[in-house]
Amino acid sequence: MSGRRSFGATLGITAFWIAATVAALLVVARMGDYRTLEGERSSPRPRACHWPRRRPAEEAALTSSALSAPRGRRTPTSEVPDMTTTPALPARSPEAAGTSTPERSAIVTGGAGGIGSVISTRLAQSGYHVVVADVDGARAEATAKGLPGEGHLGFGGDLTSSAVNADLAAAATGLAPIGAVVNAVGISPKREGRKIELDEIDDALFHQVMAVNVAAPFFLVREAARLMPDDGSASVVNLLSIAGRTGTGGPAGTLYPPFLPSAMVYGASKAALANLTISLAHELAERRIRVNGVAPGFVQTPMMGQVPPTGPIVEQVPARRYARPEEVAAAVEFLLSPQASYITGTSIDVDGGWAPRA
Ligand SMILES: NC(=O)c1ccc[n+]([C@@H]2O[C@H](COP(=O)([O-])OP(=O)(O)OC[C@H]3O[C@@H](n4cnc5c(N)ncnc54)[C@H](O)[C@@H]3O)[C@@H](O)[C@H]2O)c1
Repeated sequence: MSGRRSFGATLGITAFWIAATVAALLVVARMGDYRTLEGERSSPRPRACHWPRRRPAEEAALTSSALSAPRGRRTPTSEVPDMTTTPALPARSPEAAGTSTPERSAIVTGGAGGIGSVISTRLAQSGYHVVVADVDGARAEATAKGLPGEGHLGFGGDLTSSAVNADLAAAATGLAPIGAVVNAVGISPKREGRKIELDEIDDALFHQVMAVNVAAPFFLVREAARLMPDDGSASVVNLLSIAGRTGTGGPAGTLYPPFLPSAMVYGASKAALANLTISLAHELAERRIRVNGVAPGFVQTPMMGQVPPTGPIVEQVPARRYARPEEVAAAVEFLLSPQASYITGTSIDVDGGWAPRA
């Protein structure tokens, strides 16, 4: 009897230890999983963010739906895609994709200019097929030819015409679905060594500044948006100016400081474009197309004309220098990237701390 009882006790103790060991092993296994997740979380992020390549069938569906979008098509509210999902597929470097064919085109207007040409280069380096669009067709062609990678296009035309913008959007779509539109087109009339007085701004000059700085970007966004994919990868950036907030001009006879040297209508045109940027962002949000602005202060480009990069005008700038076009292009590239996936309807000042904030 006592032998059977001690056998039963031994069996019970053995069963207890087996159960305890199994439980302990399960706990250790869970901890291992947890450490793995933490390890992944704390591992450094890759410097460049590249999105996974689409399968060919998905890509074909995306491309055909993007290209066949009817004029003025709107996604019904019930079909609005989930804005919290990761935006898909901006252009990537061909090396990262393991292919020599980037999947997106980018339009850069004023692309032969001081800022536009640098933006074109950066977007080409990121893997976009870039369409360099400028009223100076020869310079647009030369800029496109000099871009890294293949499949870029120079497009010459006066972008104050909406028909020319429709042709431009179609040309870009012919290369690849449009992933980026950058409006760097612009004019800022100046007189050598002094501002343009109010009385000198005739009707023709007023309308010309408004046509180039406001109408041309608007026409292009309207034409391109019809063709842009609505998967969250497409984005627009308009080049604004801090003059849109500070104003320009000043009393008769004023040289540069404390006023900006452009004709005063320039500031008005950039304020209008800033406002349009907000409205376009609202309008296109349901198609997951983001629209933002970059507002430079002074940038060292041909647009600055004879305005000296030293002296009283630059002393107003806390950074005590003009921007380099590369510094403006970096902000544009950020806003186009998936890192800015929840940023729309706003702008970034690139002005060395100059413009008043509020
Ligand atoms: N340079 C600056 O200090 C500065 C400051 C604030 C904002 N911006 C803005 O940045 C953008 C780029 O300026 P930038 O300094 O490179 O000027 P830029 O003069 O070097 O380039 C502008 C380009 O636009 C082109 N263009 C003019 N009219 C056109 C038209 N009707 N159709 C097509 N192309 C036309 C010009 O040929 C030129 O290549 C502009 O919108 C400008 O207003 C510039």
